[in-house]
Amino acid sequence: MSNRKIRWGILGTGNIANKMADALKSLEDAELAAVGSRTNEKAEAFGEKHSIPRRHGSYQALADDPEVDIIYVCTPHTLHAENTLMCLERGKAVLCEKPFTVNASQARAAVAKARERGLFLMEAMWTRFLPAMRKCREIVRSGRVGEVRMLQADFGFRAGWDPQGRLLNPELAGGGLLDVGVYCVSLAYFLLGAPSRLESLAHIGETGVDEQNALLLGYPGGEIAILSSAVRTNTPHVAFVMGTEGMIRIPAFWCARELTVISGGQEERIEAGYPGNGFEFQAMEAIRCLREGLTESETIPLDESIAIMETMDRAREQWGLKYPGE
Ligand SMILES: NC(=O)c1ccc[n+]([C@@H]2O[C@H](COP(=O)([O-])OP(=O)(O)OC[C@H]3O[C@@H](n4cnc5c(N)ncnc54)[C@H](OP(=O)(O)O)[C@@H]3O)[C@@H](O)[C@H]2O)c1
Repeated sequence: MSNRKIRWGILGTGNIANKMADALKSLEDAELAAVGSRTNEKAEAFGEKHSIPRRHGSYQALADDPEVDIIYVCTPHTLHAENTLMCLERGKAVLCEKPFTVNASQARAAVAKARERGLFLMEAMWTRFLPAMRKCREIVRSGRVGEVRMLQADFGFRAGWDPQGRLLNPELAGGGLLDVGVYCVSLAYFLLGAPSRLESLAHIGETGVDEQNALLLGYPGGEIAILSSAVRTNTPHVAFVMGTEGMIRIPAFWCARELTVISGGQEERIEAGYPGNGFEFQAMEAIRCLREGLTESETIPLDESIAIMETMDRAREQWGLKYPGE
């Protein structure tokens, strides 16, 4: 692996697969080597569009491809665990879209397989790798806003009414929490660590998934995170990190390009833009880990991905929301 570029395979050819393909093209150390789809036609079309030489008409064929080092899994949530396990089984490193899996039990199985095989695995929580979020954590750790006492974050959008689509369909583990609430829960873990309490509520819509929800996380030191997410309601997408000496405001926190530090009666706006679509940073981290022989990233450790799924499991338990097959 040392003398050549890291060879990427993309598993699934939907919306986000295109974004990752664009991001990988911008990286010098990445080669867009292969794509796998459920059909030959889609693999061909995606391969043509992104100039990918190796095109497979099944996910298994991609997992079996000896000319691939790492596979980016970007199928609907319900397939993440199954697809990840198959790729690991065939000796491939995996970068798997968020939410890591549907529930913690699936997450534990994926992590156990990666550890058993000694292979790299990472949840594609791209937000954590953005310059703005790294800066945010640096500011928090520096004590510039004092001791963090509260965090507020929301991510809601009004999706069109499509009961069969992955956002509202229980068969595809639809709902706000798994699709976008995971960004809020992950941010809380990133800045505050593991919570010791959880209170939550949700509105379960007519398709049987959470159209909107709110979570309150409590921490041993009394810190509180107030998180909300939705797939049928637009919300401001702002994160506030509130400390004893000031606060940090991050607009569009999940794809942040700036942040503002408010303290001592003054506001400092910090630019943290990037030229690409933002997916390049997580890909660079995966490449760095592969180059250094690491099997996980310290920015999003696997045990934390499991813990995030556990928190979301507990919230769904409080709402009585189980997906088919759970
Ligand atoms: N990081 C982000 O910013 C971000 C944004 C959006 C979504 N995501 C995550 O990425 C994953 C995919 O989201 P997406 O928006 O790209 O979804 P999408 O446009 O629906 O694409 C999903 C792809 O998965 C494959 N697939 C396999 N079984 C499927 C099924 N039963 N129904 C539909 N598609 C199926 C299809 O590829 P083939 O037909 O080629 O097999 C399809 O194109 C989700 O888990 C989502 O949470 C992440």
